[in-house]
Amino acid sequence: MASNPPVKVAVIGVGHLGKNHARVLRELPSAELVAVVDSREKVAREIAERFHCEALTDYRQLKGKVDAATVVVPTRHHYEVAKWLFENNIHALVEKPMAYTIDECQKLIELAKKQKRILQVGHIERFNPALKSIRNAMKTVAFIEADRLSPYPFRSTDVGVVMDVMIHDLDIVLSIADSEVEDIQAVCTPVLSKRFEDIASVRLTFKNGAVANITASRISDKSVRKMRIFCADSYLNLDFAAKQAWIYKKTPKLDQADFHVENLDVSNIDNLMQFVFNDLIRVEQVVIGEEEPLKEELRHFISCIQKGERPEVSGEEGLAAIRLAHDILRIAREHYEKHVPPEHRKW
Ligand SMILES: NC(=O)c1ccc[n+]([C@@H]2O[C@H](COP(=O)([O-])OP(=O)(O)OC[C@H]3O[C@@H](n4cnc5c(N)ncnc54)[C@H](O)[C@@H]3O)[C@@H](O)[C@H]2O)c1
Repeated sequence: MASNPPVKVAVIGVGHLGKNHARVLRELPSAELVAVVDSREKVAREIAERFHCEALTDYRQLKGKVDAATVVVPTRHHYEVAKWLFENNIHALVEKPMAYTIDECQKLIELAKKQKRILQVGHIERFNPALKSIRNAMKTVAFIEADRLSPYPFRSTDVGVVMDVMIHDLDIVLSIADSEVEDIQAVCTPVLSKRFEDIASVRLTFKNGAVANITASRISDKSVRKMRIFCADSYLNLDFAAKQAWIYKKTPKLDQADFHVENLDVSNIDNLMQFVFNDLIRVEQVVIGEEEPLKEELRHFISCIQKGERPEVSGEEGLAAIRLAHDILRIAREHYEKHVPPEHRKW
């Protein structure tokens, strides 16, 4: 059977993240990196030389040259660039957050549909092996704790920490809670930024009773990307940065009708910790491969184009995360204005 020809692709915006898109696309046999685009000519040239492709300074120069492009410019330009791509029959992977407004996201979804183009959103953590490895163990989610902290990036200053950082966990939580959000409590505060929040703490309650506590900070002195998921019969502990996951499960002993923890004679047990985490609860560290989430994400994008399949993170999912982010920001703003007198407000 003849294999598909490589998909001709370009990267638009080759700054901090976009240069990695270029590197990975250059490595994928299913893709042919035709060009990189950056409004800073020197940057475009340097990356094009490194990855042996054409350097362009205006994405409109891509017309007729590519089948697909990844949009890795600052968020304020996502809509304008992606819109032009779809209008010119080019498939697009748009980095997170998908766009500024709900209206922009909806327009991109409609346009991609009308033009029959693939629209994928760059929620890269969906391709993190830590998350993928525990998907099957995740049943009846009751409670989620997520922490995503990093030092101030001095990039992405056109959005706050909710749109920039927390959006990853909002997307993951929506994808695993399997229910609609019923209630939101949110507190945000700026620290270094003048216009945007740098720290956010959010509690979401879902219609099925699941609760998610999500914290994001971009003024932390350390980087943390962790999530803990409590299910009916298991506890899942994920470290996205280390790409590791642990599954805690009850042993069959706990389900025996005649077993009651209250009736145990603990005076005969030497090491209680060992007893709990061996006899009552089993801990399994999931063996995780070395795959790079960005490579998996871009491979998936190219494969969806070749097979005409809906991406795992579609425009609709990108929009759902943006909608939730907007609701969180509105509620946090109401809380801030209620409690901080006008003369002390910095946000
Ligand atoms: N998925 C993730 O984990 C992740 C991580 C980092 C950044 N991002 C997203 O990627 C995007 C870029 O972030 P970054 O950190 O790489 O930013 P960056 O500032 O390092 O890079 C952006 C690049 O785009 C170029 N650019 C700006 N406007 C342009 C235009 N109109 N046409 C062509 N080039 C243009 C800039 O010159 C710059 O080189 C943002 O949307 C950000 O949210 C996602």
